[in-house]
Amino acid sequence: MHDAAAPPAWVSLAYLIAGICFILALRGLSSPESSRRGNRFGMAGMGIAVVTTLVTHEVASLVEILIAIAIGGAIGFVVARRIAMTAMPQLVAAFHSLVGLAAVLVAAAAFLNPSAFGITGADGLILPVSRVEMGLGIAIGAITFSGSVIAFLKLNGNMSGKPILLPVRHVINLGTLAAIIGLIAYFTTDQSPWIFWTVTALSFLIGFLLIIPIGGADMPVVVSMLNSYSGWAAAAMGFTLGNSAMIITGALVGSSGAILSYIMCRAMNRSFLSVIAGGFGGDAAAASGGPTIDRPYKRGSAEDAAFLMSQAEQVIIVPGYGMAVAQAQHVLREMGDLLKKEGVRVKYAIHPVAGRMPGHMNVLLAEANVPYDEVFELEDINSEFAQTDVAFVIGANDVTNPAAKTDRSSPIYGMPVLDVEKAKTVLFVKRSMGGAGYAGVENELFFRDNTMMLLADAKKMVEDIVKALG
Ligand code: TAP
Repeated sequence: MHDAAAPPAWVSLAYLIAGICFILALRGLSSPESSRRGNRFGMAGMGIAVVTTLVTHEVASLVEILIAIAIGGAIGFVVARRIAMTAMPQLVAAFHSLVGLAAVLVAAAAFLNPSAFGITGADGLILPVSRVEMGLGIAIGAITFSGSVIAFLKLNGNMSGKPILLPVRHVINLGTLAAIIGLIAYFTTDQSPWIFWTVTALSFLIGFLLIIPIGGADMPVVVSMLNSYSGWAAAAMGFTLGNSAMIITGALVGSSGAILSYIMCRAMNRSFLSVIAGGFGGDAAAASGGPTIDRPYKRGSAEDAAFLMSQAEQVIIVPGYGMAVAQAQHVLREMGDLLKKEGVRVKYAIHPVAGRMPGHMNVLLAEANVPYDEVFELEDINSEFAQTDVAFVIGANDVTNPAAKTDRSSPIYGMPVLDVEKAKTVLFVKRSMGGAGYAGVENELFFRDNTMMLLADAKKMVEDIVKALG
């Protein structure tokens, strides 16, 4: 805080309450059952923080700010309502880029007009501590911005998902990072504009350089890492603006994003450093010519599937990206209900990176009102496949691929997978034998003796199974 006068006690209290609301929001979001409550806490906390800031700061023009909030809010409302579930990762990346850009703009405004921010000393120069905050804010903000823009372009398909590997990229990256840190240190002794703007330019560049070598399969980690960066950028802005609510919020987002990145790395059995160093996993098209389709396989119908499942003692449903594309979750729950009526035990197995974003399957199943006690995480259910009659794999591929356990040359080698092949019968719902999963690799399971392929759109196939069961 740099304001000459400390803020009134009620302001600190209001910010503290907002901070507590954000912590409760994160707590609520940790389970689908309490996530709505979590969201409400988050909205209340943000409401308290925004109103407190507006009332206690001398704002140039309240009307202009309210108009800006209305325009931004309306755009956010429309985008959030219209976005397809499958486009969520790129939307999140786009939002992170805005947080990064906001941090850059705040730091630039503070640099150009420091007295308005109350960060000047008696000599009229910017306080050294504020220069560090500003330097960090602009660096992290610019990295977040350009990194998120690249992540958006890759996830949106405007740019190839393949890793783009520059020669000597590690030397270039380390050199650029060292230059940024050195210049921020120098900035504390000399506040010349060229230093500030060079740090800004180098930071935009490093954000770009850090993300282009990262391949499709690592994008989930990148998105959560950028989420974490955007939090630290906001915390740095909070110091510059002397706003404790922003510091708390930024630190919460920064640390929760870092924890999420760690969890994602563990789920994919990748080390954080190897993700950052980049170059892993191409997009689906990067596969060596796609899977071969001329091998013999068993193909079944909706009636076959309905018969097999109705005779089973236990069925484990494994949803994946294809279920999300087909929006088959509602009819899938109907199928589960019908099977339960027939006395079948139904469970859902969720792989941590099934779909295209963390929690993707949980959200869809929750939307379809699948009871939470039927939904299990990989480590809690994997041992059960061996005692299960039918594994019903719907639009999932990579997360079931045993090559991850056996084939060292596979791009998914080392990722823990669901052991569906251990079930007596595996039913695979997908549209064609040709379509590969995200990692672009062939799945040996399609050709196994205990596998039956159900080739159709996931929603159509499950609708037909429901008809056959009914
Ligand atoms: P994938 O391996 O991507 O497989 C999806 C399958 O769904 C494909 O076999 C596809 O085959 C089928 N499919 C697509 N549309 C369909 C439709 N309308 N009806 C029926 N089937 C359809 O999915 P997964 O098993 O969920 O694995 C996730 C992959 O995405 C992993 O490699 C993971 O690393 C990666 N990834 C995950 C995340 C996060 S955080 N979850 C983020 C980015 C990337 P057809 O084309 O033949 O139908």
